[in-house]
Amino acid sequence: MTRRPLIGGNWKMHLLRADAEAFCRHVQEHGAHPAAECVLFPSAPLLATVARGLAGSDFACGGQDIHPDDKGAHTGDVSGPQLVDAGCSWALCGHSERRQDHRESDQLIGEKALAAERNGLKPMICIGETADERKSGATFEVLDRQLNAALAGRPEPFALAYEPIWAIGTGETATPEIAQKAHARIRDTLADLIGSEAASSKRILYGGSVNPDNAAELIAQPDLDGFLVGGASLDPERFLAIVRCCG
Ligand code: 13P
Repeated sequence: MTRRPLIGGNWKMHLLRADAEAFCRHVQEHGAHPAAECVLFPSAPLLATVARGLAGSDFACGGQDIHPDDKGAHTGDVSGPQLVDAGCSWALCGHSERRQDHRESDQLIGEKALAAERNGLKPMICIGETADERKSGATFEVLDRQLNAALAGRPEPFALAYEPIWAIGTGETATPEIAQKAHARIRDTLADLIGSEAASSKRILYGGSVNPDNAAELIAQPDLDGFLVGGASLDPERFLAIVRCCG
């Protein structure tokens, strides 16, 4: 099964409106790679600017988070209908920084994935182990637990991102072999949950210190279908260099 590569740029809590506008202009002028699909995840105040700036390009826009409810008294949160209204088509669910900073549980992430689906957004579900979990040999157990909980309500998992926490923002990338082993395990677990045919059609992205120099050898792995890029997605030239490795 050939899977179209998918590359996400997670801007986290970076960039201002002028930077976002300049990024979108760069995308409009230079394009990406027709073989790859791209989505940017700016923080909430930039969503509408980015969605507008990307209109007509091959790039989509997504939220970094989504509340399980569609509206209500939840100060600081963003709902599915608000993401759609801002021009989003994707929502990240369960990024490790949300799990850590906001104590998001595995179960809550499953509810967020359902909220995305209910609103016609594509959930990109993030999973990954800590350095201690890897050292103690618990990596697969953690991935299985997170994946089972995220899919408990049976949302359509449009894409998954394997993001080992020890590789995020550290400059320490998983070797292609380590990434492939984790991705193969995720695909096996996914097959148990949604059937092997559906599992073989899902994109599993790798995230963790991806840059233009390490992207080519990672994307060569059979179960690695794209990237969720943090730091290197803030500069359009670096991001597009990664995208071009995936075509
Ligand atoms: P870095 O690419 O900065 O390591 O971040 C990865 C990440 O968390 C993407 O969601």
